[in-house]
Amino acid sequence: MTPQLTEFFDFLRYPSISTDSKHRDDVRACGDYLIRKFNDMGLKTELHETPGHPIVIARSKPKPDRPTVLIYGHYDVQPVDPVDEWDTDPFEPTLKGDKIFCRGATDNKGQHYAHILGVEETLKAHGDLPVNVIFLIEGEEEIGSPNLAPFLAQHQADLACDICAVSDTGMIGPGIPTLTYGLRGIACLEFKIHGPSLDLHSGVYGGAVPNPATIVSRIIASLHNDEGIIQVPGFYDSVVPLEAWEREMWASLPDGDAATLAETGAPGLWGEAGYTALEQRWGRPTAEVNGVGGGYQGEGSKTVIPREAMAKLSFRLVPDQDPKKILKLAQAHLEQHCPDSCRLEVELGHDGPAYVMDPHSSHGKAAQRALQRAFEDEPRLIREGGSIPIIQSIKDTLGVDTLLLGLALPDCQIHAPNESFTVTNFEAGIRLNRALLEELGNG
Ligand code: BES
Ligand code: MN
Repeated sequence: MTPQLTEFFDFLRYPSISTDSKHRDDVRACGDYLIRKFNDMGLKTELHETPGHPIVIARSKPKPDRPTVLIYGHYDVQPVDPVDEWDTDPFEPTLKGDKIFCRGATDNKGQHYAHILGVEETLKAHGDLPVNVIFLIEGEEEIGSPNLAPFLAQHQADLACDICAVSDTGMIGPGIPTLTYGLRGIACLEFKIHGPSLDLHSGVYGGAVPNPATIVSRIIASLHNDEGIIQVPGFYDSVVPLEAWEREMWASLPDGDAATLAETGAPGLWGEAGYTALEQRWGRPTAEVNGVGGGYQGEGSKTVIPREAMAKLSFRLVPDQDPKKILKLAQAHLEQHCPDSCRLEVELGHDGPAYVMDPHSSHGKAAQRALQRAFEDEPRLIREGGSIPIIQSIKDTLGVDTLLLGLALPDCQIHAPNESFTVTNFEAGIRLNRALLEELGNG
């Protein structure tokens, strides 16, 4: 174990699960760890309280006449459930071959810690950096960054920068440098169907009263037609079609349909007709059911009509769909499909718009050169299906684009049991940071 891996493992051990109030103190302790690390590196640190989890800022000594790079990451992690499906303790980093297994190893501790160590190496080697650096590491990304957009607005002046860099996306395969120039947006909601005032005997009353579980299922079924096309009126109105050059470029990547089947283990593909799997995942909007419930879930049968049933939905969005407008359209669709015999209750959740930047801009080209140097291969240009809503807020508030230099591998299992990060990518990430700051400094 190198000293760099040892300290990374210490960082991974904090169970910084932002969504779970039982872990509130662990999230804070993890933020405090970063503050200590940045202080040790000689950076100027700030811990900003929020109504939720603290925001960590660290700055190199600003010098005029050089660009300022904002490096964003998140030190919070997803819950570990289902915990029985982990082969190792989710918060005891375990090295097996090249893989480090731990919750947060890839998403996002490993990816931003590599940037931190890259800056530390440069400072040790040269006593200086080629650019001014501001680290912004938050503790609430996995719960939708509720306090970060207001924070950016309040601190617009002291976060002024020329470009933002983030490693929180994927690589298309091991060793293949990948620049992500777009992310999907997101809009979440939850709905309940209330039927009879109490659970009923399904033989005595069945056939004469609505069954909320049936109604929820019918509403869910109404979201798509048989071609996988979303049936919410107006849903596609502002969708910017994929451009010919991107469809061509993605078609030249290793077979995305086959990779999608292999990565997911699904027996077949299902999606919007007329698009490849990569186009569906990166460039087209979706409606997904994230959870559905109602009625008896126990062993054997129980002849009951549940008095209520529910579903949780999320929509992934593309430019120029407006998340708030999509939520309104979705709500109207649910109302339209709820029969008079039931009552619909809708709770809107978090949302954020899609993001795209020009990968051929001068910053985009600097990022490509840095990727080329770190991985010694031609960078591939992709969009991603996941969402990092704060990236568009950074654009809106600070007026800068974000270079998305992902280090997540297709089999890293983020958000799932047995999440892992490779030592290879950890080390490549450190090299990538050093090359990136040099390229941006030269630009
Ligand atoms: N790093 C992911 C997003 C991601 C994953 C982007 C893979 C590209 C490729 C991020 O931590 C995440 O999980 N975001 C959430 C959004 C949030 C609002 C809950 C997501 O995409 O579900
Ligand atoms: Mn995540």
